[in-house]
Amino acid sequence: MGAAEIGIGIVGYGAMGKAHSYGYRVAPVMRRLRDRPRVRVISGRDREKVAAAATAYGIASSVSDWRDLVGRPDVDIVDICTPPGTHAEIAAAAAEAGKAVICEKPLAVTYAQAASAVAAVEEAHVLNAVGFNYRRLPAVSLMKRMIDEGAVGAVRLLRATWLSDEFVDPAIPFDWRFDRSMGGTTIADLGSHLIDMATWMAGPIAEVSGQSETFARERSGRPVTVDDASAALARFESGASGVFEMARTAVRRPCDFTIEVNGDRGTLVFEYARLNELLYGDGDDRPELYGMRRIRAEHPSHPYTADWWPIGQGVGYGSSFVNQLGDLLDRWPEGPWEPDFAQGAAVQAVCEAIERSAVERRWVTVAEIVG
Ligand SMILES: NC(=O)c1ccc[n+]([C@@H]2O[C@H](COP(=O)([O-])OP(=O)(O)OC[C@H]3O[C@@H](n4cnc5c(N)ncnc54)[C@H](O)[C@@H]3O)[C@@H](O)[C@H]2O)c1
Repeated sequence: MGAAEIGIGIVGYGAMGKAHSYGYRVAPVMRRLRDRPRVRVISGRDREKVAAAATAYGIASSVSDWRDLVGRPDVDIVDICTPPGTHAEIAAAAAEAGKAVICEKPLAVTYAQAASAVAAVEEAHVLNAVGFNYRRLPAVSLMKRMIDEGAVGAVRLLRATWLSDEFVDPAIPFDWRFDRSMGGTTIADLGSHLIDMATWMAGPIAEVSGQSETFARERSGRPVTVDDASAALARFESGASGVFEMARTAVRRPCDFTIEVNGDRGTLVFEYARLNELLYGDGDDRPELYGMRRIRAEHPSHPYTADWWPIGQGVGYGSSFVNQLGDLLDRWPEGPWEPDFAQGAAVQAVCEAIERSAVERRWVTVAEIVG
């Protein structure tokens, strides 16, 4: 007897619609899943373009209104890959229709919207997850495991940066990414990944002090309502200190993110440009070995790697989606799924605290946002 099928509907056919289609297709190739995912429908507002995307991604049908996708009885999971300003409404409709929901990050553009999405999925008792895919890179997952196992001791400092050149050119025309109500801030777009990984590794953030700047304030004659670049100091509930920086105006920086943790006994460093590696400084090493060792996060004993290629071949960005969706499908239909909407909302609260802090020029507690 063949495996049972899990019906998927993907909302949005852009970069993430493509990445998730790829993830569903490859997950059952790389790992043993009890049930087989089948992307049955994809939606987009432009009928011709979404039909072309469906053909390219190997999806049997397309619709031009996401409501038609959410209402289909052969869809078990609604996977939201549209701009952040649309997420909460689509997630609530999907939950109300009894569907499990996977939503790209950031969960929403405001904490209030994120909280409403959490309430909707909790009320409907449906599985829910936010697409913080970078957690699923083997090296990042190994970093978390090593911290949990005490490799750095007690975490004292965490610094995380995300530098991109996406907004460098002032001639880039206005689109949803420059509209706060649709795209959210750079803090939420890039920073949400960093805050998710940071809180996953070092626990909740208590308070932040942020600064923000918008260098190109108008595009295509329309006002830009998002920050180009922001930074924040943070205090974790544990007492650890954090520093975050996220910018879309860093010339010749494509998607450079780094995360470094300094504990009282060791240091761990991840750099996305070398995504199959982890630097580890062990305070217990003999003095003549002073320095960092370069761990190849490809050994079968490391997270996810046994599902992938032989050691030395490495994985890439696409693998993070395969691992993410594989993890969720693996737990279908019982769950639990993580990170879930509640965790997505917790990240959103930190993003909003940074934004408020930058505007009001003072430290802001996360409790102030969560109310
Ligand atoms: N996890 C990651 O690595 C990653 C990377 C890029 C983007 N994202 C996130 O994925 C989401 C989508 O980003 P993207 O890069 O795929 O965007 P995109 O612009 O490539 O695609 C957006 C899709 O949404 C549709 N859309 C646009 N405006 C809409 C509206 N008002 N209502 C309904 N549909 C609309 C577009 O037609 C398109 O199909 C965002 O939340 C973004 O932050 C995540």
